[in-house]
Amino acid sequence: MSAQREDAVRRITASDILARKGRAPIVCLTAYSAPMAEILDDHCDVLLVGDSVGMVVHGLPNTVGVTLEMMILHAQAVMRGSKRAMVVVDMPFGSYEGSPGGAYANAVRIMKETGAQAVKVESGLTVPETIAYLVQRGVPVMGHVGLRPQSVMVEGGFKAKGRTADERARVLAEAKATAQAGAFSVVVEGVAESLAGDITRALDVPTIGIGASAECDGQILVVDDMLGLFDWTPRFVRRYGDLRGEISKAVAAYADDVRGRRFPGATETYFSKAAE
Ligand code: KIV
Repeated sequence: MSAQREDAVRRITASDILARKGRAPIVCLTAYSAPMAEILDDHCDVLLVGDSVGMVVHGLPNTVGVTLEMMILHAQAVMRGSKRAMVVVDMPFGSYEGSPGGAYANAVRIMKETGAQAVKVESGLTVPETIAYLVQRGVPVMGHVGLRPQSVMVEGGFKAKGRTADERARVLAEAKATAQAGAFSVVVEGVAESLAGDITRALDVPTIGIGASAECDGQILVVDDMLGLFDWTPRFVRRYGDLRGEISKAVAAYADDVRGRRFPGATETYFSKAAE
């Protein structure tokens, strides 16, 4: 093996995340572009190129229409923008549920074409077999249980999970099977605090919560939601910024300048002494 440059920044890996179980909370956000990844890299342990990109960036009604090519393109951008955070890429609907061999071919494409460190799959009861197949062949996998957005068509909407005893038992069983299959961490979405606590205590790998309380080992949010880019966000999302308002103000000021003909020419900018 050839030596790595000593000054190269080392990326966080799946085993680093695994070692954080029960220790310092794991900070995760979604990222879809190079400039955003560059900003988030200093603060996050994991950047997830989520298939939420379909809804957030491409205006799709859900994640079902997201393709492998879209995921690869956005993951390449996020890898270019970041240096330190672990980059995990969602396997989109239809790219891993058919057969373990098909999932492996698609996961390998993602890893080879993007350089990302891991893939994420929504892990209902049929998927752990595929997780084991991928992990045994060198693909680190993050699972995803509870509310699984790719199941929106059979569920008839995005529904929180764990209201009944049966549902709680099923989500807990899915989480355990996901971890036993070899996932290095499990996203737990849209479940009650007590169920998130039960899952976190039952697994020996970290849980990453979204709308699942502080009972998890880490948290993830869709970055555009927490930055306030939309006029609507799910109720569990705290907005840490008002980018929609800021962008609107900036664009209004620009439009005002255009209409007021307030734009410098090259003589005042490129050719001026100050610009030399
Ligand atoms: O696609 C996504 O962004 C996700 C996270 C919100 C967990 O799966």
